[in-house]
Amino acid sequence: MSRIHEALKKAEQERAALQGGAAQSSFAAAEESPVTTTVDDLPARGVPGAGVPLASGMPSFASPLSLDVLLARCPQLQWNPDQKTMLFFNGDDGARGTEEFRTLRSRLYHAREKMALKKLLVTSALPKEGKSFTAANLAQVMVRQHGRRVLLIDADLRGPRLHLMLGTTSSPGLADYLQGRSDEFSIMQRGPMENLFFIPSGEEISDAAELVANGRLKFLLQRVEALFDWIIIDSPPAVPVSDASVLAKACDGVLMVVRSNSTPVDMARRARQEFPDQALVGVVLNGTDAEAMSYTRYYYDVKNVTESKV
Ligand SMILES: Nc1ncnc2c1ncn2[C@@H]1O[C@H](COP(=O)(O)OP(=O)(O)OP(=O)(O)O)[C@@H](O)[C@H]1O
Ligand SMILES: [Mg+2]
Repeated sequence: MSRIHEALKKAEQERAALQGGAAQSSFAAAEESPVTTTVDDLPARGVPGAGVPLASGMPSFASPLSLDVLLARCPQLQWNPDQKTMLFFNGDDGARGTEEFRTLRSRLYHAREKMALKKLLVTSALPKEGKSFTAANLAQVMVRQHGRRVLLIDADLRGPRLHLMLGTTSSPGLADYLQGRSDEFSIMQRGPMENLFFIPSGEEISDAAELVANGRLKFLLQRVEALFDWIIIDSPPAVPVSDASVLAKACDGVLMVVRSNSTPVDMARRARQEFPDQALVGVVLNGTDAEAMSYTRYYYDVKNVTESKV
């Protein structure tokens, strides 16, 4: 049995255990799929049943934070963004790829006219398809508009990357909050870009699936959502592990990244099935230009995304 098949099967069992249902054996085709990445890219750290203090005793209603308190308590850190992937940090508004993100931004505002849309999960079927790249640059293009405040959250607790892209610390962060070790203020940070706030992944943990499902994320979002125009949440790939579908339940919509000439169609379909139709607000086709990885073209379709488009 190939390693990817093993990992998918294990993830399927984890998912079934979490959902309390029987495992469906629909991963059989995965072994033959032309997957260009390996499971080594996604360390499977989740240990089903590991002892996690769940959200018992948590108040059922989260009182919203005030902006004054947030601004007073959220530390401003010295970020050192990766200039190659963080398209908007170098001050060049015409840099390659930026226009596609502006288009994506306007499509999302258009989608927002038809539905409540603030908490957006960015995911994809498999590793290395551009989820973190998309989430980080989308957050940046959003705050380029005057007065828009954005919170970017790294909820990929298995393979966090956003702190590396932004050039900042990874903890304390979301994992610490989900374990009840830190409050909202100590996990949130600001850098040089006005109105962009960031919650990194936090301390490395071994029970990502249980942590994201423990109810504290919803509580956190209730506390902070009134303060932001957008909350953009980066996630692990949706097919190998269950985190993204759990995270989506705390969000208003899902943006699916598909890597051009890479994501196998059956994997894209499978990822799509992880989310209810109404949750899927669009698809980003990443890396459509064959001539260079550093240049990106985005295709984005609002609503009614059909399987042929992914
Ligand atoms: N359109 C693009 N242009 C330039 N670089 C890109 C593009 N898309 C992705 N990358 C780069 O490819 C690598 C993988 O992308 P990224 O980390 O965003 O993928 P991912 O889907 O988040 O992966 P993982 O599943 O491991 O979290 C990163 O180094 C990223 O900067
Ligand atoms: Mg990522």
